[in-house]
Amino acid sequence: MRLVARQMLLLLCAAGFAATLSSAQIANVEGRTSISLDGSWNSIVDPYETGIQSRYFLNAKPKTKSDLVEYDFARSPKLRVPGDWNTQRESLLFYEGPVWYQRDFSYQKRPHTRTFVHFGAANYQARVWLNGNRLGEHTGGFTPFYFEITDQIADGENSLVVEVDNTRRADGVPALHTDWWNYGGLTRSVRLVEAPEEFIADYSVQLAKNHTDQIEGWVQIKGTPRENTVTVEIPEARQKQTAQVDSTGRASFRMQFKPELWSPDKPKLYRVVLSVGDDNVTDHIGFRTIETRGTQILLNGKPVFLRGICLHEEAPFRSGRAFSEEDDRTLLSWAKELGANFVRLAHYPHNEEMVRLADQMGLLVWEEVPVYWDLQWQNPSTLENAKSQLREVIARDRNRPAIVLWSMSNETPIDEGRTEFLKQLIAYARQLDSTRLITSALNHTDRSGENRTLNDPIGEYLDVLGLNEYIGWYEGTPEDAERTRWNFAHNKPVIISEFGAGAVFGLHGDTETRFTEEYQANLFQHQIAMLQHMPALAGMSPWVLMDFRSPRRPLPGIQEYYNRKGLISDRGQRKQAFYVLQKFYRENAASGLKDVH
Ligand code: GCU
Repeated sequence: MRLVARQMLLLLCAAGFAATLSSAQIANVEGRTSISLDGSWNSIVDPYETGIQSRYFLNAKPKTKSDLVEYDFARSPKLRVPGDWNTQRESLLFYEGPVWYQRDFSYQKRPHTRTFVHFGAANYQARVWLNGNRLGEHTGGFTPFYFEITDQIADGENSLVVEVDNTRRADGVPALHTDWWNYGGLTRSVRLVEAPEEFIADYSVQLAKNHTDQIEGWVQIKGTPRENTVTVEIPEARQKQTAQVDSTGRASFRMQFKPELWSPDKPKLYRVVLSVGDDNVTDHIGFRTIETRGTQILLNGKPVFLRGICLHEEAPFRSGRAFSEEDDRTLLSWAKELGANFVRLAHYPHNEEMVRLADQMGLLVWEEVPVYWDLQWQNPSTLENAKSQLREVIARDRNRPAIVLWSMSNETPIDEGRTEFLKQLIAYARQLDSTRLITSALNHTDRSGENRTLNDPIGEYLDVLGLNEYIGWYEGTPEDAERTRWNFAHNKPVIISEFGAGAVFGLHGDTETRFTEEYQANLFQHQIAMLQHMPALAGMSPWVLMDFRSPRRPLPGIQEYYNRKGLISDRGQRKQAFYVLQKFYRENAASGLKDVH
């Protein structure tokens, strides 16, 4: 059935393909005039994908009493957008498959105005129609996409239909297995974005390489050039610069200005205004340098120790995919309370608000694409998929000072196909952004007695080595950690990107009893002691800030489909280990780097 539906779809595509998915970008929709389409949408759960054949995208109504129309969005159950569907309806908690969303909206067309429909994210595949016209599709659950609808949108009433399908796929990114809930739906905001005929599609404003007294960047214009100069202004610094737009719509500029540098202690952001013709975009950007020197990471030229924590984009207290500023601020405030200056956003790009808050709150960020565990490494479309997710997240977040690390993968097997795949992804990342550090979370080590060596061939191509190790939980005892001696084949900074143990808040016992707070706290004590002797250690991000839903964790009375390795329960309760790590971070923050080496 579903295959037939897809063939039908292809036929329909050929027939009705209008707007295209732009691989370019409309930067900073937050800083633009936009009309929110968030709220309550009509929804049809369609496990057999009948909707393609029955053409739900037409949102048809029976014209006569004998007309056969076997769906009716208006009388169908509602789903909130943004939000995953799994936590909105008990019956959808485990649902994986297609769900159709539909909403009407009225719109007033304006002269010389281009209109786009923008999605913050939709997990995992989305197909979009406006007034029955197919706009296009997008793959990847965690990055933004949009369609230009200037010619399709009606002056008056419109009907937008989106089919979202979170079916896991062997050739997908991620593929069939993850240790997080496969939340489906329009998980982030949907909005109409307006821009003049000539508009600023993308831009980069950063410190010039190896300079702290020069700002450089570029602005990419789209549309019919009326003006061929762009203006870049930093009002607070009385800086204003114009630059010529070349034939490709690109204008490059350099500004002599020594900004106050952004850092976790002083997260200084400048209001930056970019304009061309009738279009202008305002952003808040910080300036900092990030580099490595031997086994150290240097922020603004000084060694920094990354006191971090991993977190999922899981909503505190209510579970489900986090999407609001409130969700994000709660999670990041907990990280700050822990004494962290760094967060690893696992294992996929989190919402834009999260990284903008990290800018404001002063948290360095590790951002990752969901190349997680095992993928079809030899499959060119899987590589293309990973590349497009990387391109979209870098385009969205390139001006965020908080982001210092792009992570290419998590816990992937050491084999030729994988290493080749990652080499290509790393090269692509460097092409897209040469200003940030490239890393991956590795987990395969060679063992001899108490000696462990991280000698993953991909290490050669990374700037920073991430290491996930679970001594004391998946292997050995917590005490083994202290006896372990680490070696690294590549002379590069190392971040312990994961270690941890499960614990149920309020479950108490001796330090040997699994899932007690005492077991988890004891494991953290020994891990921290081990880190004291770890060469090349430049940072850490234990697993994990808060308990999160996982389909791999069914243990009754303990897990209940939650991964319980949080230092904080999903209800916001701090476990003993939270205070163990907080104490270490506070002492470390006070005494700086030397305490670890
Ligand atoms: C892995 C993985 C995480 C997972 C964690 C765990 O290392 O990277 O996604 O949740 O371990 O097992 O709890």
